[in-house]
Amino acid sequence: MANVQIVFGSNGGNTKMVCEYVGQCLEDMGHRVKIDRCEHYPEDQLTGHDLLILACSTYEHGQLEDHFKLAFWPRIQDVDLAGQKCAIIGLGDSKYDTDYNIESGRILQHYVETHNGDLIQASLMINKSPLSQLETTAKDWAKKLSDKLNTKSNRVF
Ligand SMILES: Cc1cc2nc3c(=O)[nH]c(=O)nc-3n(C[C@H](O)[C@H](O)[C@H](O)COP(=O)(O)O)c2cc1C
Repeated sequence: MANVQIVFGSNGGNTKMVCEYVGQCLEDMGHRVKIDRCEHYPEDQLTGHDLLILACSTYEHGQLEDHFKLAFWPRIQDVDLAGQKCAIIGLGDSKYDTDYNIESGRILQHYVETHNGDLIQASLMINKSPLSQLETTAKDWAKKLSDKLNTKSNRVF
């Protein structure tokens, strides 16, 4: 069993829905999951979890959604994620921008890499409405994460 913290930024609710779905999957697989909106999440609590999942949608030609960009992003620039296992969920829709499709996922990936975090799995990148991708892509992604977390906690030294 692992302690998983999910912190998300969402404007229209799609990212929230994906986080809640992934969180439920992980709970069903025996993990303890906390899900918080980014706006009021304390930056000094980004570390100390078995897994941190950062999630955000994309707006305005490849920018992070506003809650994440304005109320959270400036506060997390000095955080050191050394030793923190991380995973990323990015959302977007190519009908709004093909050049910067799901750019939020790439921005968050870069953030983790440049702040010494440990990305343990390729990011979950959701293009267009997440609804039809929950039971397939999102569930598979959560299962792979869970396997990795279990492998870690079951390791015999
Ligand atoms: C005004 C507007 C601008 C958008 N710009 C982009 C964009 O640049 N790139 C992208 O991939 N998706 C873009 N999107 C799509 C959203 O990221 C997508 O609908 C996402 O699922 C919204 O998630 P949320 O409901 O959690 O905010 C845009 C959507 C809107 C309404």
